[in-house]
Amino acid sequence: MTTTNASGADLFGQRTRTLLDELEASGQYKHLQMIESPMGPSIDIRGVGTVDCFCSNNYLGLANHPEVVEAGIEGLRKWGGGTASVRFICGTFTAHEQLEQQISSFLGTEAAYTFVSCWTATEALFPTVCDPGDVIVSDELNHACIIDAMRLTTAIKKGVNKAVYRHSDMDHCREVLAQARQTAGTNGVIWLVTDGVFSMEGDLGNLPGLRKLCDEFGAMLVVDDSHGTGVMGETGRGTHEYWGMDPSQIDIFTGTLGKALGGGAGGYLAGTRSAMEMIVQRARPTLFSNALPCTVAASAAKAIEIVAREPERVAKLRSNTEKAREGIRKSGFEVLESPTAICPIIVHDTAKAIAMSKRLLELGSFAIGFGFPVVPEGEARIRVQISAAHEDAHLDRLCRNLVTLKSEY
Ligand SMILES: Cc1ncc(COP(=O)(O)O)c(C=O)c1O
Repeated sequence: MTTTNASGADLFGQRTRTLLDELEASGQYKHLQMIESPMGPSIDIRGVGTVDCFCSNNYLGLANHPEVVEAGIEGLRKWGGGTASVRFICGTFTAHEQLEQQISSFLGTEAAYTFVSCWTATEALFPTVCDPGDVIVSDELNHACIIDAMRLTTAIKKGVNKAVYRHSDMDHCREVLAQARQTAGTNGVIWLVTDGVFSMEGDLGNLPGLRKLCDEFGAMLVVDDSHGTGVMGETGRGTHEYWGMDPSQIDIFTGTLGKALGGGAGGYLAGTRSAMEMIVQRARPTLFSNALPCTVAASAAKAIEIVAREPERVAKLRSNTEKAREGIRKSGFEVLESPTAICPIIVHDTAKAIAMSKRLLELGSFAIGFGFPVVPEGEARIRVQISAAHEDAHLDRLCRNLVTLKSEY
């Protein structure tokens, strides 16, 4: 008897249609906005018009800075598209060498190594540095790239363990570390990983508290400072600077070039020279995937140069953020308090958050509504992100629009 197999294309087509219909029916389908201008404090959205942008991570206004743009063009002229190969086979352009030196000297580490994204950097890190017997300990609200890197590590390296502590709960973290130490014994390494700034809450990882716990349990501290670099601390070095910590107190930094530092793309690891050497020798994304395009590397290097040269941008971001937070409070909305440029306005209900962000867009301020499952049920929010590029007029318009919104909801 012969059986007829259903066609893969039919099965996949059906599966896809079911998912897309479900997403549309539950209001979770993501409709991408088409932007017809460069990223800036105001942008042109197809079918909407010019609106003030409060949902980009363009914290320092460098995404369309003339020097950053020019450096990218010059990078393309000088080095072309890329090596058309991975770095260990064909070599490294001096654009990457220079960028990595700039990242390490900006952060205060011995060395740095770049990737096409922070996502890739994080997935390069843990499977490479962890050995069987090690334990990765993670805050429950860490970014998805950390969660996936942990899943990848434990799947491909048998004997690596993971454990999660309640968000920023130092007592629970201590309990989890004590358990991790038992699991790791005397030969296993514990890797404690936290976001520097948590992207949905806008709050800070308690780096001094975590460092203390790491010292007590002999653990390594890894900080993803994607939303902290260029933003936190007097000179924008990051969350460790905000807390008054020496960079040597963070064992490994992970970060992105796709937010404050130029906004194009790219990520990095930074730490000791030997740790970076290990990444070069062993990390699979390093060995089997191309480098960051030179044009992006050159733009990011210029962005870092500008941040170091113009700390007043960081100060402007800080004062803009204080002004925005005050205006949001005055409009009657509840904003999660923190010193970061991420201001989540809690509206609780997912459908309401989405409807309110749509209305806010009509009024001329672009800020995205996040609901379940991105944030826990009942904690839906509109996330407002502030930039040094915003002027008083943008912030005043936002606050006026929030007053209108509050009167309608
Ligand atoms: C905390 C955090 N880490 C990592 C990333 C990923 O960065 P990239 O876009 O460079 O992969 C993001 C981006 O959303 C982030 O918020």
